[in-house]
Amino acid sequence: MKPILCAALIFGITGVALATQTAASDAAWPTLKAHAVPDAALEARIASIVAGMTLAQKIGQMTQAEIQTITPEEVTRYYIGSVLNGGGSWPGKNMHGTAADWVALAKTYRDASTHTDAKVQIPLIWGTDAVHGHNNVVGATLFPHNMGLGAAHDPELVKAIGQATARAVRASGVDWTFAPTLAVTQDMRWGRSYESYSSDPMLVRQYAGAMVEGLQGDLKSDVNVVATAKHYIGDGGTWHGVDQGENRASLQTLIDVHGQGYYSAIEAGVQTVMASFNSWNDVAAGADHGKMHGNAELLTGVLKNRLGFDGFVVSDWDGIGQVPGCKNDDCPQAINAGIDMVMLSKDWKPFIANTLRDVNEGRIPMARIDDAVSRILRVKLRAGLFDHRPEQSSVAGKLEALQARELARRAVRESLVLLKNNGQALPIAPGSRVLVVGKSANNLVNQSGGWSVTWQGDQTTNAEFPGGTTVLAALQKSLGASHVVFDETGTHADAAKFDAVIAVIGERPYAEGAGDIKAKGSLWHAGRYPEDLAALQAVAGKGKPLVTVFMSGRPLYVNDLINLSDAFVAAWLPGTEGSGIADLLVQEKRGKPGFDFTGRLSFAWPASACQFDTTKAPLWARGSGLGLRDQNTLPQLPVAAEASCE
Ligand code: BGC
Ligand code: BGC
Repeated sequence: MKPILCAALIFGITGVALATQTAASDAAWPTLKAHAVPDAALEARIASIVAGMTLAQKIGQMTQAEIQTITPEEVTRYYIGSVLNGGGSWPGKNMHGTAADWVALAKTYRDASTHTDAKVQIPLIWGTDAVHGHNNVVGATLFPHNMGLGAAHDPELVKAIGQATARAVRASGVDWTFAPTLAVTQDMRWGRSYESYSSDPMLVRQYAGAMVEGLQGDLKSDVNVVATAKHYIGDGGTWHGVDQGENRASLQTLIDVHGQGYYSAIEAGVQTVMASFNSWNDVAAGADHGKMHGNAELLTGVLKNRLGFDGFVVSDWDGIGQVPGCKNDDCPQAINAGIDMVMLSKDWKPFIANTLRDVNEGRIPMARIDDAVSRILRVKLRAGLFDHRPEQSSVAGKLEALQARELARRAVRESLVLLKNNGQALPIAPGSRVLVVGKSANNLVNQSGGWSVTWQGDQTTNAEFPGGTTVLAALQKSLGASHVVFDETGTHADAAKFDAVIAVIGERPYAEGAGDIKAKGSLWHAGRYPEDLAALQAVAGKGKPLVTVFMSGRPLYVNDLINLSDAFVAAWLPGTEGSGIADLLVQEKRGKPGFDFTGRLSFAWPASACQFDTTKAPLWARGSGLGLRDQNTLPQLPVAAEASCE
């Protein structure tokens, strides 16, 4: 049996909160500093609004519908509390919509939500995945994905990125971002590894608070947004890195590792938390706790009661449907466990009908509904949604506000990790003639990765990143166009005729489970992308230094590529500002020191193709990375090109 879960089912319903006393909530979670002082006036206002609401109005508040599936008229009619745009879902399905187009739809939905027949009009809140800048909007500056930011080890930078992202989101009339991801990724096979700052829980903790502060500020200005700590809890620790899989950790590991980001996020006042798709199976204790979306002890007992989180919990994309016995449009278990707002890809209408019935037939206590609605109202009131309109922000509709190019360029510089620099191949002297090869040199799609304009980051070209700079363009700018020749495969030009060769290679975009390296797959990069090895082979050994810039969503087994390269730079998924890469590859002026590599690994680098646990004997440990002045000669590495692992 499941002793802890059984305890969680004994609901003592007292006023607004469900008292869920469990073994997990009694355990050694830290005691957090409360962010907000109790505000009696606010609580009184919430209570009076809730007291005047019908059940249909309450359930409407708890409903989050995807923008392609709901009209403004339906928002009015069903008292809808929230909408989201999923990854690659744009107003009017127009990928090239402007900030003004976004604001227009936000205004329409907002107006619709405040023209109901309810006693008090409650403005709707719109959520979006602005996970590395406002990445669903064409023309927005895209920052490095979180893994690259981790390598920067710079919380102040992260806060500034939060501020710039919030500004961009408000420029589009949206008030809420589903970020930051606080996963502490353990296994690089996970397709969401790049959404994680680090495998070091303490770095994630340091960054989580900084990002929340940057995004939310004091929630009073017209360039702040509501942030989301996601995905609670244990998303980065699933078995074999399977997306939405099973976290087999002990309770102590949840507390010490996967919980760390939430502590600082809550102390910084994060207003929403997204439940995770993963399940928790404490194998050592023989207790399978099932899917997080149904986990009362962690959502209510720990997060709300023990850690004192007083905002609301949103479910992930149809995540309630994964709870045993549930459907996407019906899951009293999830609401009873502590989900306050339900994210629905399309079934919002039956969800409302089914949930009304669940309450009327006693499967969900009214106190739980009132608590959920109170939490949603608390966030909306704190965020000033009742007092401002989307189109009223000083940045609304402004293209410039989508951009923060210099900040992103700095972030790219800080994120690069120099792992090999034999014979001081870097920096490249100004005036050099350089051959550039590799599929990612002139490719903003590969440079940006998943969650870039589209969900998977596919089906786009450089044209969807106006204002962005490829590495090739950045090198042409810093060295002079006449000094740079581009030959993607490296088979046409003669490397011997140049002073140096720069290869820009790596993974192609992916998001979520589509990026998982599936059962038996290895970390050997060239096995999946043979063209990258071929490009290096075409230009290596011609007597000219070969500098490889490797763009990837994770550390991978690349000994074969490293051996062919004189210098090797881990560039992660840098986003739209390729200039940040040129800044470090090319010495500024002869004799004048330019920028140096300050990035250091925030994840260990595997020494072999099947090394999924890099806690022991990795090729490079966390913290590794060279500066330009380090005299360090890396010997040839052993190569065992295993495409599959047992
Ligand atoms: C992802 C979330 C995301 C949501 C909305 C889900 O599939 O897991 O991270 O916020 O979709 O796009
Ligand atoms: C949406 C994403 C979401 C995913 C979940 C996609 O269709 O655009 O936002 O995360 O589905 O599977």
